[in-house]
Amino acid sequence: MSEPRKILVTSALPYANGSIHLGHMLEYIQTDMWVRFQKHRGNQCIYVCADDAHGSAIMLRAEKEGITPEQLIANVQAEHSADFADFLVNFDNFHSTHAEENRELSSLIYTRLRDAGHIATRSVTQYFDPEKKMFLADRFIKGTCPKCGTEDQYGDNCEKCGATYAPTDLKDPKSAISGATPVLKDSKHFFFDLPAFDAMLKSWTRSGTLQDAVANKLSEWLDSGLQQWDISRDAPYFGFEIPGEPGKYFYVWLDAPIGYMASFKNLCDRTPGLDFDAFWNKDSTTELYHFIGKDIVNFHALFWPAMLEGSGFRKPTAINVHGYLTVNGQKMSKSRGTFIKARTYLEHLSPEYLRYYYAAKLGRGVDDLDLNLEDFVQKVNSDLIGKVVNIASRCAGFIHKGNAGVLVAGNAAPELTDAFLAAAPSIAEAYEARDFARAMREIMALADRANAWIADKAPWSLAKQEGKQDEVQAICALGINLFRQLVIFLKPVLPNLAADAEQFLNVAPLTWDDHLTLLSNHQLNPFQALMTRIDPAKVEAMTTASKEDLAASATDTGPQGNGELTKDPLSPEIDFDAFAAIDLRVALIEKAEHVEGADKLLRLTLDIGDEKRNVFSGIKSAYPNPAELEGRLTMMIANLKPRKMRFGISEGMVMAAGPGGEEIYLLSPDSGAKPGQRIK
Ligand code: 2FM
Ligand code: ZN
Repeated sequence: MSEPRKILVTSALPYANGSIHLGHMLEYIQTDMWVRFQKHRGNQCIYVCADDAHGSAIMLRAEKEGITPEQLIANVQAEHSADFADFLVNFDNFHSTHAEENRELSSLIYTRLRDAGHIATRSVTQYFDPEKKMFLADRFIKGTCPKCGTEDQYGDNCEKCGATYAPTDLKDPKSAISGATPVLKDSKHFFFDLPAFDAMLKSWTRSGTLQDAVANKLSEWLDSGLQQWDISRDAPYFGFEIPGEPGKYFYVWLDAPIGYMASFKNLCDRTPGLDFDAFWNKDSTTELYHFIGKDIVNFHALFWPAMLEGSGFRKPTAINVHGYLTVNGQKMSKSRGTFIKARTYLEHLSPEYLRYYYAAKLGRGVDDLDLNLEDFVQKVNSDLIGKVVNIASRCAGFIHKGNAGVLVAGNAAPELTDAFLAAAPSIAEAYEARDFARAMREIMALADRANAWIADKAPWSLAKQEGKQDEVQAICALGINLFRQLVIFLKPVLPNLAADAEQFLNVAPLTWDDHLTLLSNHQLNPFQALMTRIDPAKVEAMTTASKEDLAASATDTGPQGNGELTKDPLSPEIDFDAFAAIDLRVALIEKAEHVEGADKLLRLTLDIGDEKRNVFSGIKSAYPNPAELEGRLTMMIANLKPRKMRFGISEGMVMAAGPGGEEIYLLSPDSGAKPGQRIK
């Protein structure tokens, strides 16, 4: 027996200002399945992650919500942790980059780089918001495209004509935060001397650390010459101050990957025998893998190994890169209901359906993966229920009825058990290579063989014949053993199914090597349904609820979006005319009711003096008993263009505040206000 491997694994750290969605889950599920496979095989495999808690986006979002960044990241961390746990993503530690371990390690790495001469400083001229008194990243500047003249474009590219430019090229630039006209201002910045690591990176990226497609992409960057990397940001910024440089902060991407080390350090500090240095020293013999999406390859395969090399730490064994998720062949879309949050999925469907579907479609490449919702239902039902669980449900009854639940000894089809044994190394290889799709194909081919054999033997017919009881028991005992083998092979993907099967089989938690043996003369526990078919109506309900998430987000100022700061981080200022154009009215809630089939919406009938309005509002989580709203005054935007929703037309919007969930507070005027009065 070879020594167990010592492996440290990470997934990219999700930003602490948004909810986890099914696109994120592709990465966490992929990593979790690989980690579970390693543990199943008896290796020491440690899986750490954290929230990526720094940066101006988080600072500004907290400010907008009227809470501290620390409160915001604590709220989001609780939400993320629950989503991961419920998707059976089993981190050994889920930490935060805003933590003492990370401050210390970031300082250590920076000072080592600085002392080795890898940090340079120079002055940078950037747009500065004179009202907000902060430098503006490109995405916080809006203006008119210098190429095609389209207004309201972001500071680095035009959505209309696709031009890319410097923010200083924008015409009529405005701060997206305050609306002020930005001014150019100089400031000292700190740069990491990436070009000094050019030779190391050229060899490291070609040493089996990356998939070929990724290495080829990196060659293009390496061949066109590396630039020094700006690692500092000026106050105000939510992050760590650079040691000895008051008012200067580490750029979020400097301390984010160090967060991998920090999360592991935090785990080591409370786990006897787990040695941080053994995993991170330059001469470490342990393995280190980062699972990431293809959008953040430069940070992980250029900056990160160079930082580690320059500060005397080990470099990753490999970076495993995956593609993006599409749903029904297209980018996830809020209006189509295919921008599905992890929580929304979990409210309708079991996590294992998605884990299996992802596994069945995940190869080792960087291609995008399509979650086709029809195919999802069909594949899960046909493979997991129709093939795997079916074997157990076909055989268990005969064993309980005919032999008091005891599996007889013997092997009714050695050629079949040999085929299962022979397939195991190839399935393990596929898992090891992250070719989950091949592993699933090979497992399902075995399930097909087992089903075909049982169908051929037809124990249900034999059971009706005199003197065939022994044969029935022999067939069904083997059937249950083959089911057990399949569960062993599927356990990294389907941990709950495996746990339920272990209970039914009356065995200790199964390990990979258990496939080498068969159960004989063994008492089973009563059989209970191990998995139910996906009801397509639940998928439909999930997409409907995802559309409602969009509607609800209009009244929800809490974390939204895809975990990244994309568009409209803050509301830009509007001029007085735009304000005056809003018809704000006092509204009497005459009726407030649940909407059948909607998880988040209430239907409100509002009296605004001269007319009645029907409004759908995403406030159900805060007002589960809608009747208590009846008779109460609130405020509404009465001239919002009517919106056609699945449940009818929504004719306006009521106003509420708060982070979301139970904390949504409907606004009310002082007593004395009358329905229909305009708010001035
Ligand atoms: O792209 C992202 O979502 C980043 N928050 C990932 C950070 S990964 C690591 F470097 F911390
Ligand atoms: Zn343009």
